[in-house]
Amino acid sequence: MDLHSLVKDSSLIQSGAYINGAFVSAKSGATFDVTNPVTNEVIAKVADCDASMMEDAISAAHAAQPAWAAKTAKERANILKKWYDLCMENADDLAIILTAEMGKPLAEAKGEIGYGSSFIEWFAEQAKRVSGDVLESPFADKKFMTLRQPVGVFAAITPWNFPNAMITRKVAPGIAVGCACVLKPAEQTPLSALALAELAHRAGIPAGIINIIPGMDAPALGDVMCRDERVRKITFTGSTEVGRILMRQSADTIKKISLELGGNAPLIVFDDADLDVAVEGAIASKYRNAGQTCVCANRVFVQAGIYDKFAAALTEKVAAMKVGDGFDNDVVQGPIIDQQGFEKVERHVADAVAKGGTILTGGKAHEMGGTFYEPTVITGAQKEMQLYSEETFGPVAALFKFDTEEEAITLANDTIFGLAAYYFTKDVGRVFRVGEALEYGMAIANTGAYSSEIGPFGGVKASGLGREGSIYGVDEFLEIKLMVVGGI
Ligand code: SIN
Repeated sequence: MDLHSLVKDSSLIQSGAYINGAFVSAKSGATFDVTNPVTNEVIAKVADCDASMMEDAISAAHAAQPAWAAKTAKERANILKKWYDLCMENADDLAIILTAEMGKPLAEAKGEIGYGSSFIEWFAEQAKRVSGDVLESPFADKKFMTLRQPVGVFAAITPWNFPNAMITRKVAPGIAVGCACVLKPAEQTPLSALALAELAHRAGIPAGIINIIPGMDAPALGDVMCRDERVRKITFTGSTEVGRILMRQSADTIKKISLELGGNAPLIVFDDADLDVAVEGAIASKYRNAGQTCVCANRVFVQAGIYDKFAAALTEKVAAMKVGDGFDNDVVQGPIIDQQGFEKVERHVADAVAKGGTILTGGKAHEMGGTFYEPTVITGAQKEMQLYSEETFGPVAALFKFDTEEEAITLANDTIFGLAAYYFTKDVGRVFRVGEALEYGMAIANTGAYSSEIGPFGGVKASGLGREGSIYGVDEFLEIKLMVVGGI
């Protein structure tokens, strides 16, 4: 695949780290391969940065941040708005780059570019609405007020499953309120990150405000981010395991932390659900991005009275899903990102079958080969199966049967995770009862698709800390300062 010949503007394909406003090679000259997950072909060689380059990036961010923070919110917003416009103008190319390095179908990649860009537009607007308070003073001669000020330099670590949107959802709120950032993109998908940097550069975001440090040695790069006193905040999307490490490593420098970690999303279908809506919702939630999102339904709980009908209707739709190269027409599911991810899906399905599950469709590697896996539906799922307690991160819907509302809520909450939960019912009272009882950061009734810039995205329990997007997203990048003026 010659990626340069697929895009209109090949200068969006960058291979250097982006530090202090320039694309640079690794000091050691080292590079790593970026491959297309469909063919395993190398599509680019990208700078493999070491810890000293992360330090350089932090120095650049630290030097540039005060002048950026001193700009008015409107000045920053206007620059972000240009970045947004450039992302939209180049959406087709950004989507091609994303599909080439990550494998999701091109239409889904275009959807992600729109979604990702919406965070830039949204936070350009929100930056102008950051305000402190004048408080009712308890003393006649003193005034009390609060200021909300940028935390300073923040570090971001982003995943491969949304190579564009997880960057903009972190970087846009941070820089909109006057912070500067150093970002390490997933090693599988650095090209989308570097293309965003190129557009940020063209938009006039000053040197040092956004720095992108690709590299294979994630522990070493993360360690510098966590231990450097100048970095005042860490924001991470990825596994709970890595989230715990980052939290521990940030303890010495007492950083602000936001974490968007693993999930184990329940999707509950009650007897009184609209069957078509529930099937459509389950497909949207479960099979989006080949099941590789933190909010994909992982355990599907179906009430006994609708179980067989739901299983049959879901199976019919899933069996018709077209799997293939994301660049081919009508493909709705691409490959699993890598061999390790593929093997986890195989392991979960084998374990489910060994423990009594029945495969209604799929259940094996797809004939495309590589890491393609057939969209799968399994009935007779049981609590003892691995897929009950572990996130599969693949296109496998396991259907558990339940009898009562209480039982469904207990099962749904029976996990250390608490990111997204879905439920389907036409009973308005149940919508509220169940929504309130679910121990999740996001309780979603009668739809499987809800991600947008306006909804606060985030989890509870082992699924993380903080919220991204929405009117709350800027809070993670601001400190509240109390100012008291006496002698009045
Ligand atoms: C994720 O999987 O972490 C993000 C999904 C989304 O933003 O909808």
